[in-house]
Amino acid sequence: MLCAPPQTPRPSPRRPQLSPAPAPPRCSSSNAAQPSSSQATAAGSIRRLVLAPEGRAKLDPRPDRDFYAFPRLVTHVDDGFIASLTDLYRERLRPGWEVLDLMSSWVSHLPPEVAFRRVVGHGLNAQELARNPRLDTFFVKDLNTEQELALETGSFDAVLCTVSVQYLQYPEKVFAEIFRVLKPGGVCIVSFSNRMFYEKAVGAWREGTAYSRVQLVTQYFHCVEGFTQPEVVRKLPSAGGSSPASPLDAVMRLFGMAGSDPFYAVISYRNFKPM
Ligand SMILES: C[S@@+](CC[C@H](N)C(=O)[O-])C[C@H]1O[C@@H](n2cnc3c(N)ncnc32)[C@H](O)[C@@H]1O
Repeated sequence: MLCAPPQTPRPSPRRPQLSPAPAPPRCSSSNAAQPSSSQATAAGSIRRLVLAPEGRAKLDPRPDRDFYAFPRLVTHVDDGFIASLTDLYRERLRPGWEVLDLMSSWVSHLPPEVAFRRVVGHGLNAQELARNPRLDTFFVKDLNTEQELALETGSFDAVLCTVSVQYLQYPEKVFAEIFRVLKPGGVCIVSFSNRMFYEKAVGAWREGTAYSRVQLVTQYFHCVEGFTQPEVVRKLPSAGGSSPASPLDAVMRLFGMAGSDPFYAVISYRNFKPM
């Protein structure tokens, strides 16, 4: 079952509201928020802020922990998306790795046949995380109130963030933390589609397009010194017979009638991409 949005009207009772009309992400040009030049040269430091205050704002100002207080044992994207993601993990993750599944829930979408040394989960609902069969351990933390992760520096081979990056109000700090906990050469895979809990997504995401959201996540990596040039993986399914990403697809998606969820992943490595 796909996750339901906490609002009406909506195209399908099981699906979060699709994104509204296009607009570019809001980027800060304020120098006041810039880190000092000495910080800017250190790997893992924040080079610049990506979001302006209105780009971080949510329509629903209630604490996120309240919103996620009850468990949602649903899948937030469809089978096609999940298959694409699991295939990507199959391609990029190695057996024996230590994996952090950030903003996780009761499913991690990892290839079932791959044994990892340790999978640490993070999210906002302990009951959901306790149901996740891939997690060896987990912790609950609201990343919009505090971004520091109580995890050792350089301790993970991979950090994953699935269909959740749109809820981060301070992505620059969170991505700096991702950089910190990754081992040199470790990979971060951020995946998303066009679904969201609209009231809980930040302004820059809500008002964006598929293209601008990819750019936004790319900027989240770029703003932290030391991440490699992000790679983008896109899989845009056809609505049924028409060419992928055609205007008909766009219209059908708008009304929740598309064949399947579009898949986007932005991938970057700490310091270097291992051969
Ligand atoms: C759409 S669900 C995705 C869950 C999971 N990654 C998946 O693939 O099914 C969004 C997740 O983002 C996490 N999340 C939302 N806001 C958060 C916040 N402020 N701090 C930490 N995690 C948050 C919650 O744990 C929630 O489960």
